[in-house]
Amino acid sequence: MSAGKPTVAVTRIIPEAGLRLVRDATEMRLWEDELPPSPAQLADLLHGCDGAITLLTDRIDGAVLDREPQLRVVSNFAVGYDNVDVPAATARNVAVCNTPGVLTDATADAAWALLMAAARRIVEGVDYVRAGKWRTWGPTLLLGQDIAGATLGIVGFGRIGREVAKRARGFDMNVLAYDAYRDEAAERALGVTYRPLDDLLRESDFVTLHVALTPETTRLIGERELRLMKPTAVLVNAARGPVVDTDALVAALRDGVIFAAGLDVTDPEPLPADHPLVHLPNVTVVPHTASATVHARDAMAELAARNLLAVLNGQTPPACVNPEVLGRERR
Ligand code: GLV
Repeated sequence: MSAGKPTVAVTRIIPEAGLRLVRDATEMRLWEDELPPSPAQLADLLHGCDGAITLLTDRIDGAVLDREPQLRVVSNFAVGYDNVDVPAATARNVAVCNTPGVLTDATADAAWALLMAAARRIVEGVDYVRAGKWRTWGPTLLLGQDIAGATLGIVGFGRIGREVAKRARGFDMNVLAYDAYRDEAAERALGVTYRPLDDLLRESDFVTLHVALTPETTRLIGERELRLMKPTAVLVNAARGPVVDTDALVAALRDGVIFAAGLDVTDPEPLPADHPLVHLPNVTVVPHTASATVHARDAMAELAARNLLAVLNGQTPPACVNPEVLGRERR
């Protein structure tokens, strides 16, 4: 880093709450397009930068980091950081930061919105009204699934999964949870019962996914797992698209293996306009907007900026994924 202000890349326009912090303290290069930079454009943008605020649409790996030996921090504007090769960053003493906590409520709320919309066929109902098909009250029109008193299975019992569990209390639900790393105190505190994944899938009326994307969770839900679920069950994915095997999900929804899905995330992302998940009536899909509230996105922008600036100033950032590299010389 030169004696002057550090040079920093921000790979998309994020809320002003964070942008102004970065603009005031650095020489900021901002990627202003609606679409993300291509890998070549990202390489140009990062060239000579001391740090970057990145998005989940930017792939940051060892090759990218090797081209920029002065880059010291990758501050991801997201709680998930599967777009960053963290071991590669750690090996080079590059700090990787994320935005946990500030989007927990927004994401848990959105998972519930998807669960309810899919269970009660809300989007089908809206389409029906807009298409001018609403001619009378119908005793068997758009019948969905009960939520109150049902069994909710939460896969991934971290920050977001726990908030989803809290919201289930108001619906008098029986709540089951699976996580590869158990926290029995949290289970007790929230009145949640632990189940191995297969049992949770068999017993739940609603299965909602809140795991990080890792090699272990990639395609965690495939054909076998979908077949364990009830034919009346609803699957919600507000985690990452590749946690579910898309082809298996399409087949399960088409063939009535499960009742419906509520999807914040998909694989691929974005979905092409002709993709079956766009057209199946029992899919409620939104464009990865679970954390998209004004408050959550402002807070994410501010936290991403604070993480970035802390590392560049030799301080401890509020949320670092690999804190062991802090204070070490870049390799
Ligand atoms: C969004 O998906 C996030 O990880 O914050």
